Amino acid sequence: MDLEFRASDPFVGPADLLALPLYSDSDDLPQPLRELDARLEGALARARRTGDLRGREEEASLFYLSGDGGPSRVVVLGCGSAADADGETFRKLGGRAVREAEKLFLTEVAVCVPGFAASSTTGGGGGQDVSPEEEAVSRVGPDRVVQAVAEGLALAAWDFRELLTESADQANEERPPLLTEGRIHAVSATEGLEEAVRVGEALAAGQNLARDLQARPGNVATPTHLADVAVGLAKEHGFGSRILGPREMEEEQMGALLSVARGSDEEPRLIVLEHKGGADDVPPVALVGKGLTFDSGGISLKPAKGMESMKYDMSGGAAVLGAMKAIGLLGLPVNVVGVVPASENLINGSANKPGDVIRTREGKTVEIINTDAEGRLILADALSYTRDRYGPSAMVDCATLTGACVVALGHHAAALLGTDDGLQDEVRTAGELAGERCWPLPLWKPYRKQLKSQVADLKNVGGRPAGSITAGWFLSEFVGDTPWAHLDIAGTAYGDTELPYRRNGAFGFPTRLLVEWVRGRVV
Ligand code: BES
Ligand code: MN
Ligand code: ZN
Repeated sequence: MDLEFRASDPFVGPADLLALPLYSDSDDLPQPLRELDARLEGALARARRTGDLRGREEEASLFYLSGDGGPSRVVVLGCGSAADADGETFRKLGGRAVREAEKLFLTEVAVCVPGFAASSTTGGGGGQDVSPEEEAVSRVGPDRVVQAVAEGLALAAWDFRELLTESADQANEERPPLLTEGRIHAVSATEGLEEAVRVGEALAAGQNLARDLQARPGNVATPTHLADVAVGLAKEHGFGSRILGPREMEEEQMGALLSVARGSDEEPRLIVLEHKGGADDVPPVALVGKGLTFDSGGISLKPAKGMESMKYDMSGGAAVLGAMKAIGLLGLPVNVVGVVPASENLINGSANKPGDVIRTREGKTVEIINTDAEGRLILADALSYTRDRYGPSAMVDCATLTGACVVALGHHAAALLGTDDGLQDEVRTAGELAGERCWPLPLWKPYRKQLKSQVADLKNVGGRPAGSITAGWFLSEFVGDTPWAHLDIAGTAYGDTELPYRRNGAFGFPTRLLVEWVRGRVV
């Protein structure tokens, strides 16, 4: 979707559909709703008096205007209380504008956010004549508001249609076209907001790439495919790239990653992208993502029901590639390295067996109790490689690592663990900003005992209790002293918790969080 910013009256110039938010705590109609009311000869005020239009969330009222060079349709979207508005309110607003346009089979939409006039001149707060709209914009921040609407528009306009043929289109005449153009109006806004649109657009482009990769089935999105996409990104954005195959992994003695990959005919890849946005002598930050392109469980086979969703077991890797794309588009002045260990977890005569002991790149031996705890194995080698090769100032990994994480936090927050409180605070803040939340679980010492093995340095599972924490403990054995944070995204990377700006299926979570974390390191 192409996005455009305009600091001008949305009623000047044509539009197929203009979306305007209405809050539940607005006393008087703010501009541009007042203008709409005038054009409708008081219809909005009447609808407010009858109680039909109250600004409640989910409320949507469509109006048709006489064609006078302005918008031909306007939809008023209830947004709840302005006093409660946050970035997510505006992300959803952008998403809902797209959904309304889709219902009408349109390919473009404009959104106008009220409240920019006074908020951009004064620094928020106490003034007596500050309207709820102005208060909301100044509290969230004008640039954050515009960025969030841009994200909402561009994320909502994504759908995964590349495997549909025309015959499917004919059978399903209901499918609306995807939106191609979005416009954001913020009347009397100050400068710098084009930049906010650009940021939102880049974040969405990265996240939409992550979603594409996630949505692609296991027979398409193989480890080799992920590597090819990464090499494409390197060409597009001038990244350095390094792709390790089985031979290079042997040289690196990556016995854990190789042991998982040996169970499959598909060759594994360790994908590395290097964005050199900072000074040469500044160590990079590292993003590491689990790229398990299909997880059958191996010999510890998963139940058949729902196994198809294990194509999403590369979601962490997809988010890292998506984040690298956004970072490249934004040209962030930081050094960033993105690392994705990619493999299948299948079953053949060479596959891991329960009881096997393997040797990791780190030198630590691991007794494989359950071949389905494969994510921590491929990550162990990737984390130790990243630490040794790049000496990063911080490492953040994300992985669909444990079912226990879904039990603990459900689908509305990722689990956050790590070795550095400051880093974890940064990651949590980035998640809040991005609307991709995470919540801490403790990496306390007593949990470590659950990984004790009779025959090796570690077991790869710690039993049922606190499964996400013991998985975190396992990973922590491979990061050394590097400040490190781990996001377990098993419950948040994909699913059926759709939002106005995301469809069921691939969510691209936590692409925005990762990019916001890196952006937070710039200033
Ligand atoms: N990829 C799974 C974790 C997962 C489960 C992701 C559900 C998304 C939804 C991981 O490889 C796995 O199988 N973990 C096991 C670990 C166990 C054997 C200790 C699990 O959580 O059951
Ligand atoms: Mn598994
Ligand atoms: Zn897995």
